[in-house]
Amino acid sequence: MRAIILARPGEANGFELSDLPDPQPTAGQVRIRMVGAAVNPADLHMIDDWAHRKAGTRAQRPMGLGLDVAGVVDLVGPGVQGLSAGSRVAALTFPHASHAAAGAAAEYVIVPEDDVALVPDAVDLLDAATVPLNSLTADQLLALLGPSVGRRLLVTGAAGAVGGYAVALAARDGWAVTALGRPSDDGFLARAGAVDLITDLRGIGGFDAVLDTALLNEAALRAVRDDGAYVGVFPGLEPEPERGVSVTAAVVVPDGRRLRDMLALTAQGELEARRAGTVPLAEAVRAYDALRSGGQRGRWVLTP
Ligand SMILES: NC(=O)c1ccc[n+]([C@@H]2O[C@H](COP(=O)([O-])OP(=O)(O)OC[C@H]3O[C@@H](n4cnc5c(N)ncnc54)[C@H](OP(=O)(O)O)[C@@H]3O)[C@@H](O)[C@H]2O)c1
Repeated sequence: MRAIILARPGEANGFELSDLPDPQPTAGQVRIRMVGAAVNPADLHMIDDWAHRKAGTRAQRPMGLGLDVAGVVDLVGPGVQGLSAGSRVAALTFPHASHAAAGAAAEYVIVPEDDVALVPDAVDLLDAATVPLNSLTADQLLALLGPSVGRRLLVTGAAGAVGGYAVALAARDGWAVTALGRPSDDGFLARAGAVDLITDLRGIGGFDAVLDTALLNEAALRAVRDDGAYVGVFPGLEPEPERGVSVTAAVVVPDGRRLRDMLALTAQGELEARRAGTVPLAEAVRAYDALRSGGQRGRWVLTP
């Protein structure tokens, strides 16, 4: 199969489309024939990290790119019960997990059955590829913020991928959501359920909690009332706690059951699937460069 692999340490954009053996599912795993694989900032972090490695560094096994996959199950391993060949599915996959042959940016992707969700007929597989990482991240980070009803939440980077899901899911849960975005994001943020759109943090304060997807750190923390809550997206980069505000950050984990809920909400139109465009694997650099240039709304999706 063809897969995007980090190939040349020490080089900018040191990835290439390589030929690898077709991966085979083992017990509890399924093989997905990829239809779409979304491109996320995490891919850029991996590319940049690889660019800082010493030239000549050898990885012990292929280092693939891509976390979000949607496609069709074509093989199942022993013991898989809920999925069969032909099932339309999506998953969050970690390229360096022990089961992974490569990342999602590959013609075939191996994923544990528990991490996979069926995609409702109403959701296009290319749209479904944009859902797993960012909806699950928003959902899992919101769960760290405590009770929602009647409380005020600030979401920074609100029109981004994580932020957009956070606004919509929080509003559904009863938070009064203020969204920090750009002026041109007002339509999307109103549809997502924000009660207020702001474009900078000057003069802003008194929130019960902030979900800081734009990594504004201390500036975002200052907008939280005493004894409130700050949740960030990068463990290790969060600001120092102050005034009794709790400060946490977490990394998303795959969760096929919850992903099924996210896809159902997408099918119902409660969550908006936002796709910037599609690019074939062989031209993936176009998608990485577009994401790197900033200002993107919706995800670029790689296709075989
Ligand atoms: N913890 C985890 O497991 C996890 C999972 C997924 C993602 N992440 C991280 O979460 C972060 C967000 O990811 P993402 O995919 O949502 O990125 P994204 O789609 O690029 O969204 C970031 C958003 O922040 C906005 N923004 C940045 N600075 C701003 C400012 N000063 N004022 C208003 N808006 C501002 C950007 O607007 P413009 O585009 O207009 O600049 C963009 O809309 C990334 O660092 C990513 O690596 C963490």
